[in-house]
Amino acid sequence: MKTIAILTSGGDAPGMNAAIRAVARTAIFNGLRVMGIRFGYDGLINGDIYEMNVSSVADIIQRGGTILGSARSEDFQTEKGQKQAFQILKDFGIDGLVVLGGDGSFKGAKVLHDMGVKVIGIPCTIDNDMGYTDSTIGFYTAVNTVTEAVSKLRDTSSSHGRANIVEVMGRRCGDLALYAGVSSGAESIVIPEKPLDLESIMNKIKRGRKRGKLHHIIVMAEGVGRPYVLKEKIEEITQVDTKVTILGHVQRGGSPSPHDRLLGSEMGNRAVKLLIDGQSGLAMAYKAGKIIDVSLDDAIETPHILNEELYDMAQEISI
Ligand code: F6P
Repeated sequence: MKTIAILTSGGDAPGMNAAIRAVARTAIFNGLRVMGIRFGYDGLINGDIYEMNVSSVADIIQRGGTILGSARSEDFQTEKGQKQAFQILKDFGIDGLVVLGGDGSFKGAKVLHDMGVKVIGIPCTIDNDMGYTDSTIGFYTAVNTVTEAVSKLRDTSSSHGRANIVEVMGRRCGDLALYAGVSSGAESIVIPEKPLDLESIMNKIKRGRKRGKLHHIIVMAEGVGRPYVLKEKIEEITQVDTKVTILGHVQRGGSPSPHDRLLGSEMGNRAVKLLIDGQSGLAMAYKAGKIIDVSLDDAIETPHILNEELYDMAQEISI
């Protein structure tokens, strides 16, 4: 192992830069050359690659996004694109690759592993939809961002006696809505893993009004869809003025939390050590407070499971 490369793929996540920094610095510390690939698998196919040094990753641990740029590559889905990527890795003399991203990025990493490239994956997504790891890099920063936004909405919601539906990201996974909903003290949490209980939402609003409560926050995962339909229903049944806020890509940015910086640093460091050991086809995971590795197959195939205890608890403490 003489030269390794890093790429970031899919939706960016706060903490990716901490992982890039750790990969680059660990590689250099251990006498390896390190290359940065710009814009994910697209950049790999196009040979958009540059050599990194210690300074290339200076002053980035606190920055959201990814200094390498990211993309969801359509070309890499094709056999032609995959063969081209393989050839580029050979042409640049890259012996090992670290892929930072979510599910789709790991599937790409697995394709390269099967072609004989030494690859390690690092889980980065604000969705936390990868069941094999307790948390993905970026998730807790996004939970913070949503929690702060909901606190601000609560201020104005209380002033006007309104209800607020806050739509949060997460694709088909409700984790961001659930964890941020609990953290922000939301009255209702609506996630795709559970049926929409309209009666419970309406009853909570009515009960709250009776005891003089001036706000009602509903955190809704984007995977459920149709927040404006819910708004109409609430206004029709409870007569409470209801606003919809779609937080959107704000949730993907911002300075990473210490947890995500730690995950990025530890996973990046370990990924390079695995490559130096000649290992491949592995994904880094955070399990019960420890950084471990599992096969890329397990990482891709392990379904995400809802934290039922947390969901049930949220019902009890948001009456
Ligand atoms: O996977 C991360 C994520 O932010 C999802 O929560 C969201 O559905 C999607 O990416 C948005 O993708 P894009 O940035 O391509 O619009």
